[in-house]
Amino acid sequence: MLHAILALLADGQFHSGEKLGEQLGVSRAAIWKALQPLEQQGFPLHRVRGKGYRIPQGAVLLDRAVVQAALPGALAERWQWHLYQQVDSTNAQAQRLVAETGVRPLVVIAEQQTAGRGRRGRQWSSPFGQNLYMSFVEPVSGGAQGLEGLSLVVGLTLVQALESCGYQGCRLKWPNDVLLDGAKLAGVLLEISGDLTADAVVVIGVGVNVLMEADDEIDQRWTSLRRCGQKGVLDRNQLIAAFASRLAESLVLFSREGFSAFHARWQDYDAWLGAEVQVISGDNVRTGRNLGVTRQGALRLLSEGGEVDVNGGEVSLRLSHAS
Ligand code: ATP
Ligand code: BTN
Repeated sequence: MLHAILALLADGQFHSGEKLGEQLGVSRAAIWKALQPLEQQGFPLHRVRGKGYRIPQGAVLLDRAVVQAALPGALAERWQWHLYQQVDSTNAQAQRLVAETGVRPLVVIAEQQTAGRGRRGRQWSSPFGQNLYMSFVEPVSGGAQGLEGLSLVVGLTLVQALESCGYQGCRLKWPNDVLLDGAKLAGVLLEISGDLTADAVVVIGVGVNVLMEADDEIDQRWTSLRRCGQKGVLDRNQLIAAFASRLAESLVLFSREGFSAFHARWQDYDAWLGAEVQVISGDNVRTGRNLGVTRQGALRLLSEGGEVDVNGGEVSLRLSHAS
């Protein structure tokens, strides 16, 4: 019923409760009853007295079957898919599933996260029904060392998937952010567990702002696919499928050739290539020119003492005020 109502609202226009009821053979009250929980959870539903209901174009609920059907045939069975209405963090849930059911490729997607996480204990704002929160579990053999550069590869893959969905101009901010119009659109959080020297598992967490219009808690400039005003895909199921199919390809190439196969492409998208930047690690701040990345994915910083290569991990990159 809910999916049928949302399908009728998918054109982005106002529809009165009465008309919707007629079309679906139910009462106006039944329509209201079906939509009310969504509204309470924060789904972007616009209700105006005398006009009815409206949702932004592309607003749909997540649906595993729809995502799987949109994947190329060979990939339909590649991952086991888990969908939750609400979860603390898709990364945390993916780790629990691995602990409970063993290591195998799986994906956790959720409508909402109550404790979405960014790097170093930061919070990732995750309202219901508006954005993408997804975690891909991949077994890793040969130890964590082989994962150098993977988070950069994931960001690049996301940018390419977004291009294929009609969004141009996304840029990468080393090591793990996707920017659009200079504002944060998406983030990548990799978490590794198991034996870091032998067989391990990596959880690839990706958050993308899709329909989100307002958020009072994010303390930096951010944007969403809807906010940016480009006419691309907003249907989250299609966006997940577009990303997952490219990620599968990237993972094959990465396991064969490592980051070096992505190096040139990554630099093409580097938001701050050539800019004066600050590398912040706790109280320690280094300044210099961003020369791009090494073939392993480390940041090349040209400072007064010469070039130093900085590894991702615990550092943050900021533009220097001078630039
Ligand atoms: P760096 O990784 O270089 O330190 P960062 O400040 O973006 O950069 P992260 O840990 O990568 O830090 O991301 C978490 C931060 O992202 C939060 O502190 C908040 O400022 C911002 N943020 C939280 N939720 C969202 C969201 N949904 N969209 C965009 N930005 C968000
Ligand atoms: C960052 O920029 O700091 C990374 C943000 C990563 C957010 C995603 S949302 C899905 C997955 N689950 C989480 O708790 N975090 C990642």
